[in-house]
Amino acid sequence: LNRLSTQFSTGLSSAPIGVFDSGVGGLTVLRALRRQLPRERFVYLGDTARLPYGTKSQDSVVRYSLQAANKLIEHDVKCLVVACNTASALALDALRARHASLPIIGVVESGAEAGCHASQSACIAVIATESTVRYGAYEKAIRARRRDARILARACPLFVALAEEGWVDGPIVTAVAHRYLDELFAVSKTERPDTLVLGCTHFPVLADALRAVIGSDVAIVDSAQTTAVALDRILQEAGLYATTGQSAVQLLATDGRERFARVGAVFLGEEIQPDQVQLVDLSAADVNV
Ligand code: DGL
Repeated sequence: LNRLSTQFSTGLSSAPIGVFDSGVGGLTVLRALRRQLPRERFVYLGDTARLPYGTKSQDSVVRYSLQAANKLIEHDVKCLVVACNTASALALDALRARHASLPIIGVVESGAEAGCHASQSACIAVIATESTVRYGAYEKAIRARRRDARILARACPLFVALAEEGWVDGPIVTAVAHRYLDELFAVSKTERPDTLVLGCTHFPVLADALRAVIGSDVAIVDSAQTTAVALDRILQEAGLYATTGQSAVQLLATDGRERFARVGAVFLGEEIQPDQVQLVDLSAADVNV
């Protein structure tokens, strides 16, 4: 029995880590995961056919997330990273309820942790999708860590479109950033947040442009690195570290290989060839919700 269970756990630890997002935004998280866990194999799924999640109802986001999880489980993943704030905010409980034995980690808790760590004044701005803001996920997560926090949350859906288009700087990005952020930051020093949490995995590629608009005295944080550290801890505690083998990434998308490769490269920080991206159909991984 001992030998069998050792074989089982060795088999499991060499299994890949599943990561999913509504599109290519989660590649910013994958990038941090790979840096933190250089021996692991990853299967990344971007549900590009149905992006954006951030304007959809909770029912839809839960259904899409369960389907994405099912697809990744077909790849025998040993754990799941929900690299999408909207899916983390709206569907994490449903995912954990459906897959109780699979370690599942979202990005909202990590983003909140990074924000609380960076802020001195406890006045924290969060920008995210409409659904993440409406759901109040960051408020809950930040307040659980800092009860005295003043949280200003703002939905910035156009940033998703700009990032997906690969427009990460220039006058249009600057104009949109002013429109969204001036009401939060162009205020008196006492009311001004000292930290901006990028509560959407699409936003880190816009960080430089946002910094130019809000000024250098505001800390800009995202959930990628904190998520990588949290996952590292989970794997360690569960004895699920890959002990052999080399890092590898398998890329899955539900639509638009070329686009995924072209735009995804900006998020991942390295070249992606269209033939590295495999198209998958999530309706075949259907769930009853
Ligand atoms: N990547 C998603 C998130 O982090 C945003 C994009 C979308 O709306 O699907 O919330």
